[in-house]
Amino acid sequence: MTKQKYTFPKRFLWGASTSSHQVEGSNYNQWSEWEDTNALSLSKKAIYRLDETPVWDDIKSQAIERDNYISGKAVDHYNRYEKDFDILNQLNMNSYRFSIEWSRLEPREGEWDQKEIDHYHRYFEALKKRKITPVVTLFHWTTPVWFAEKDGFERKANVDYFVRFARKVFAEYGAHLRLVCTLNEPEIYVGKGWLDEDAWPPAKHGSRIGAIKTSLNLISAHKQVFAAARSSSRRIKIGIANNVSNYYAADDSLKTKSAMKLKRYISDDLFVDRIKKHVDWIGVNYYFSNKYLNGKEQNENKRVNDLGWEMLPDNIEHVIMRQWQRYKKPIIITENGVADQGDQYRKWWIAHTIDAIHSAMKRGARVEGYLHWSLLDNFEWSYGKWPRFGLVAVDYKTMERTIRPSAAWFGKVVGNLRKG
Ligand code: BGC
Repeated sequence: MTKQKYTFPKRFLWGASTSSHQVEGSNYNQWSEWEDTNALSLSKKAIYRLDETPVWDDIKSQAIERDNYISGKAVDHYNRYEKDFDILNQLNMNSYRFSIEWSRLEPREGEWDQKEIDHYHRYFEALKKRKITPVVTLFHWTTPVWFAEKDGFERKANVDYFVRFARKVFAEYGAHLRLVCTLNEPEIYVGKGWLDEDAWPPAKHGSRIGAIKTSLNLISAHKQVFAAARSSSRRIKIGIANNVSNYYAADDSLKTKSAMKLKRYISDDLFVDRIKKHVDWIGVNYYFSNKYLNGKEQNENKRVNDLGWEMLPDNIEHVIMRQWQRYKKPIIITENGVADQGDQYRKWWIAHTIDAIHSAMKRGARVEGYLHWSLLDNFEWSYGKWPRFGLVAVDYKTMERTIRPSAAWFGKVVGNLRKG
């Protein structure tokens, strides 16, 4: 790939993403509580849950340890953010997506923690100093414990607490805010927390009513935060990060097509359709392609990442086109990446992804940024620490950071593309 081959708009955002709970460390929220209760059983289940992953032999000793499932210090980004932002500069990036941890700002109901508020002030300043545009997520699946104890987003009256938190963020950090993402992948949060067997907090598996109530409350939360942003500043542009897969039918039968379309509607469209008049931009998180054949999902899995997820990076073009045609809003790729401890696929994945984004833009889609998941190796929810999504490898013992070869290459490509 050369700079001659591509031109991207001057203001295109090139960067990487993280979320507080996955990188900062020392969080106390509903997820850390859940880890304490569930880490041991996850470590015991590892053998039958993970033995089919392609890297089982390498990760086994880690995956059967309880400690793998405790976020703990994570990669200590809370204390090392200045150095991590230097890496963004080194990689020629101009943007960074992260979440502000509500449980830090409001550890007890109605009590704001000034020390933590100041921390994020310094954090924003550190980005500004390095000319990095923040993309700020307000909810990346973690909440204060007191909020979870009141039934969190499942209870309508609780939405007010989240809106109050959002207002606080706007009031404190408004000068730094341009791109704000209200919710990260609400449909995944609801699916994992209320429907799936492979439970996440609050682990109410099978509670369809709870899932519906929570979804409706999240829709309302999003709309209210959108209104609060509008009354706070016209500069703030509100988006949502949607986990969008490339669903496709591999045969022409009605059964296959209708199964595929139903799944696609429920997973990709249902939520965003309801808030589409209340967003300025759409965030696309792309990881999956799902092939339908004989009425069922049947992936070929020719090439899979360390988690066993099929890798078809080019299909992001279809996903972008579909989101563009459906919503006609600017798109930011808010997440996209691979679990790849050997760094054997990342460069290939990124090269194909940039290519595909460029094609979609040539076809008319307005894409305004590409934020890779993740800047750093991170705590991967119920899988714990072994999956390696980072452009930057982190040694969990020493916390030493090492730029992976794919990232060094990506940084050069970004440098060239930004020169135009
Ligand atoms: C989530 C991230 C997660 C990534 C990789 C996304 O769905 O937003 O938190 O680490 O996928 O699994």
